Amino acid sequence: MCGIVGYIGNREAFPILMKGLHRLEYRGYDSAGVALINSNGELGVYKAKGKVSDLETFVSDKDVTGNIGIAHTRWATHGEPCQENAHPHYSSNGRLAIIHNGIIENYMEIKKHLIECGFIFRSDTDTEVLVQLIQYVQDTENVSLVSAVQLALKQVIGAYAIAVLDKEQPEQIIAARKSSPLVIGIGDDEYFLASDAMPIVEYTKRVIYVEDDTIAVIRKGDALRILDLNNVEHNPEVKHVELSIGQLEKGGFPHFMLKEIFEQPQCIANCMKGRISQDLGEVKLSSVIDYKERLLGAHRFIILACGTSWHAGLIGKYLLESMCHVPVEVEYASEFRYRDPVITPNDVVIAISQSGETADTLAALKLAKKKGAFIYGICNAVGSSIPRETDTGSYIHVGPEIGVASTKAFTGQVTVLTLLALALAKEKGTISNVAYQKIIRELDAIPEKMQEVLKQNDAIADLSKIFTYAHNLIYLGRGYCYPVALEGALKLKEISYIHAEGYPAAEMKHGPIALIDAEMPVVVIATHNTLYEKIVSNIQEVKARKGKIIALVTKGDTVVSKLADHVIELPSTLECLDPLITTIPLQLLGYHVAVHKGKDVDQPRNLAKSVTVE
Ligand code: AGP
Repeated sequence: MCGIVGYIGNREAFPILMKGLHRLEYRGYDSAGVALINSNGELGVYKAKGKVSDLETFVSDKDVTGNIGIAHTRWATHGEPCQENAHPHYSSNGRLAIIHNGIIENYMEIKKHLIECGFIFRSDTDTEVLVQLIQYVQDTENVSLVSAVQLALKQVIGAYAIAVLDKEQPEQIIAARKSSPLVIGIGDDEYFLASDAMPIVEYTKRVIYVEDDTIAVIRKGDALRILDLNNVEHNPEVKHVELSIGQLEKGGFPHFMLKEIFEQPQCIANCMKGRISQDLGEVKLSSVIDYKERLLGAHRFIILACGTSWHAGLIGKYLLESMCHVPVEVEYASEFRYRDPVITPNDVVIAISQSGETADTLAALKLAKKKGAFIYGICNAVGSSIPRETDTGSYIHVGPEIGVASTKAFTGQVTVLTLLALALAKEKGTISNVAYQKIIRELDAIPEKMQEVLKQNDAIADLSKIFTYAHNLIYLGRGYCYPVALEGALKLKEISYIHAEGYPAAEMKHGPIALIDAEMPVVVIATHNTLYEKIVSNIQEVKARKGKIIALVTKGDTVVSKLADHVIELPSTLECLDPLITTIPLQLLGYHVAVHKGKDVDQPRNLAKSVTVE
């Protein structure tokens, strides 16, 4: 996903812009660029393929002075990663510079018209089309930049978060947003612009989340103006961001991913804070209190998500069906949105997303909403697009997740799903008070048990060395831990680039067992639960074919531990809470294999932290 930063104020813009781009690197990108208006009123645009550090090297002999600028990290959508396609893009008259996160769906049609009007294009991007269109409107309509942007955006179909500089108006930045995130930080006589709050919080915690179909007129020394495309003034709420710089740094860990794995005990405690009263022995979710009737009246839950969040949704299915006795369907958002799904007014959709910006999940929930469903969001990024489209929901409060591979957000999502299932089951009377209280008490012990699992980090790092040269792995689990097997396989795949598949353990007999031989490591989640005997049989089937078995077992296990080649012992917990414990060793396994292989753990190739394009 592209990253946008902007600055206008009394400080030198360049250092602020570069630091901001570094804070957005986690989003994944392939080139970077900056546009500045220097003290002589000259507009300089500098861009480079590769990392932000490559850009900084490239401009080391350039004039990057000035108090106003915009900068960008590009994750290629239209046009390959190269310097010409990197942002910012110039207008033909050299007056305007633009940066953009999103996709202009009808750019080819606009480009064709502009070429007929004599425009020449330097790049293959949709973004360059947009800046040329703005110039075309400015010239032909003889209007201000604000009006030109409004008129141009009315012709655009697609998603955008843009920032535009005009060298003839060096005291202003024009920004606009539709579907792609954009945040404005309000400082003392200075403004900051970014795709999310991270590049902003060290300067100011006062922010405005720009709404869809609005533009921001940001002028040094003036009050910020927010207008819609028909020039109607909006008065958005200024919010206070809770992020701290410490949360953004690695805190002594070699990678954000490892930091975030180790943060999980505290994160899960934070996630439950104010939502569980151990004294009263009850779960209190404000969303359930406020929308009790609608949620209790659900004839069906439909969970929409992608990737790791989809795996959390599978666990949500087990939780909601077993505790609330309501049917749950878990859908890939990307499939749901194009399938013309059947939705009834009694459907409750649960949209799960760490970033709150995943395009497919956002589009799918909008479709379900349009068809009459009630929308419940489970997100991490406060103020992001998905929570703003839901009827209600619960934030997971695990703090910013920087590593592209999701870890603490997954356990946070599973925790909120557990609380939601408990709260609804209690209201519906579909859970006994004994079971309800037992789960609440055990939830209180989970952070401590997670801490215990993390003590095995070094042992898991040693174990992971044997996989460094593996080419394929299989992950097996049953019941609540079947989605954990999927998640463990995804962790390994996305950061070590080793192929891995997660399967329900019993599914092996229906084909995948043909893959098993002495070269095939098989990771099995075999903790003590109602399906333990079944998984022992599955392990024996694998062993009979000389598969190398790495087993996650409950401490004190005496059966699987004798069958497996490698054993990771875990603290026991309730079956429905097992994913909160068994996921952690698989996160560590994936992490350490990737480190042994020398991979870019926090920014794996081809991946973005949030996929805001389809
Ligand atoms: C998980 O490690 C990946 N980063 C990816 O699958 C991610 O979970 C997916 O893109 C969904 O993102 P979201 O939770 O922000 O919507």
